[in-house]
Amino acid sequence: MVNVAWPYANGPRHIGHVAGFGVPSDVYARYERMKGNDVLMVSGTDEHGTPILVEAENEGVSAQQLADRYNRVIAKDLCDLGLSYDLFTRTTTGNHERVVQEMFKQCLSNGYIYKGTQKVAISPSTGRTLPDRYIEGTCPICGADGARGDQCDNCGNELDPDELIDPVSKINGETPRFEETEHFFLDLPALAEANLAWLKTREGWRTNVINFSLGLFKEVRPRAITRDIDWGIPIPVEGWIDNPNKKLYVWFDAVIGYLSASIEWARRQGDPQAWRAWWNDSSTPAYYFMGKDNITFHSQIWPSEMLAYNGQGSKDGEVGELGPLNLPEQVVASEFMTMEGKKFSSSRGIVIYVKDILARYPVDAVRYYISVAGPESSDSDFTWSEFVRHNNEELAASWGNLVNRVANLINKNFGAIPELDEDSMTEEDRALLQETADAFDIVGGMIERHRQKNALSEAMRVVGDTNKYISSTEPWKIKNDEKRLATVLHVAAQAVSDANHLLAPFLPHSAQKVWEALGGEGTFSPLPRIEDVEDLDKPGFNYPIITGDYVMGETVHPWVSEPLVAGTPVPKPVPIFAKIPKEAVDEELARFDAELAEREAAKKARFEAAKARLEDGGSSAGAGVDADGAGSAGVAGK
Ligand code: MF3
Ligand code: ZN
Repeated sequence: MVNVAWPYANGPRHIGHVAGFGVPSDVYARYERMKGNDVLMVSGTDEHGTPILVEAENEGVSAQQLADRYNRVIAKDLCDLGLSYDLFTRTTTGNHERVVQEMFKQCLSNGYIYKGTQKVAISPSTGRTLPDRYIEGTCPICGADGARGDQCDNCGNELDPDELIDPVSKINGETPRFEETEHFFLDLPALAEANLAWLKTREGWRTNVINFSLGLFKEVRPRAITRDIDWGIPIPVEGWIDNPNKKLYVWFDAVIGYLSASIEWARRQGDPQAWRAWWNDSSTPAYYFMGKDNITFHSQIWPSEMLAYNGQGSKDGEVGELGPLNLPEQVVASEFMTMEGKKFSSSRGIVIYVKDILARYPVDAVRYYISVAGPESSDSDFTWSEFVRHNNEELAASWGNLVNRVANLINKNFGAIPELDEDSMTEEDRALLQETADAFDIVGGMIERHRQKNALSEAMRVVGDTNKYISSTEPWKIKNDEKRLATVLHVAAQAVSDANHLLAPFLPHSAQKVWEALGGEGTFSPLPRIEDVEDLDKPGFNYPIITGDYVMGETVHPWVSEPLVAGTPVPKPVPIFAKIPKEAVDEELARFDAELAEREAAKKARFEAAKARLEDGGSSAGAGVDADGAGSAGVAGK
């Protein structure tokens, strides 16, 4: 399984988001399919909780309307990036609600969910609850200012809002009051031993991810999994289910999305039990892709939910009808990406939206940049000058020119893939073909170990060496030796074809074009599509899904050197990659500065207005808060 973090449906996605969870998960899934492995890749939009509510208030629409709006926008962004989901759905489906409630009920009956009380912060001016992360104060542990009610970014400790020293509302600056209310808790301490035992059997995780995950178990506390909020999944307990002001905590339901989406996928396939092969068979590995701010939820909360459901914590229990559920093989978390040296943040305008960059530049230029310079295992910075440089020097000059040159020489001299004459092959020819054939294991091994940057540079090394081969064999100078010319061009074309296979997981759109440039027919590199569907359980509730046909031997080519067939017609090539004019850098930077100034001003105005209303005694709920909300897959700055 390839499980991809669920983006909040509270705004369009920006490059920081898709660099963390999007492109890396797709590269991995595409590679595994080319290897001949079955892949199920699921995700969807995360539509509950305060991040959605806050933005709905900012935009003056209902939470469902907001979720509908951004579910559609995000599905289109991710589809346009070529992310090959089997199913990209959402968390407001009837199917998801049923699965979440089933998980809750079984965990409750196994004793891992229990009722207790919790202090919650209330806004004195509105009487409404203030979500943890909209409270700010001094950290009681390290003394840093600006710690949030859920966590201190300075020391990394999890906090409760009433522990903060001098807490104030981020919305309007007022001091919250704290009240005891009843909630359900997930008994993480009763699951910690089993959770940690599983974690200790993990192999091959990135060092920072496994260390952070193990660190979570130094001190384990129960966690409230319900909230005083009117937007979310109803709590399936008598006396609670109809309470409009108590709902399940967004993270409790969101992580269950991987399972519910698999069930939805199976139901839509007309094979309603097909998801079980992915979830009940412990030999089927599940890889989870996300930004580092999601690690807690995938190394602890989700595994603990599954252990509770399976009855595998210290209180034992019965396995529910969906189980036993398979814990993650690996949590593949990336670091953060900044933008021109600043933290990404939607509400501060430090952002490049996926749809904007795709409107101005080719999709594979974006994917290439993310793969080459993304935050794979350390933070990285998006800069327009590097974006242009990588595109121009590597994609256009090195790879694009190679494809063009080889296709052009073949078209001009033979009109078709020429015959390889074994007898006229040189050491150099054989060495190049050996190198490209060997590269499959090298590049593949790196992708399997989630070192996509290294994998891509190995693939580009093949491109560089093929360029060197052309420069040294100088096919345009070979006169009066048709056999030798044919051999050189055949070898070069084979190397191009091999490099194109190696690059296909990273560059699926151009891989298709390169395939066609060498005379290939049919689909080489499948792309996802959007389909409008009706909810399987709530008639009349329609939404877009991303899906696709990714079938080995039909739309997917194998991860091996596929021999070119002499005689295959090769058309006159059209350029596949283009250089981006250098002036683009200045234009983008000017646009960036202007948007930044505009956003800063708007945010300040919202806060001032909320404060003024507070001083007048009016309502101020919701306004002025950073719309990024609670956590944001793969992005710094909230
Ligand atoms: N919506 C969360 C974020 O953007 C990620 C949820 S991942 C999930 O941080 F799978 F757990 F839902
Ligand atoms: Zn601290």
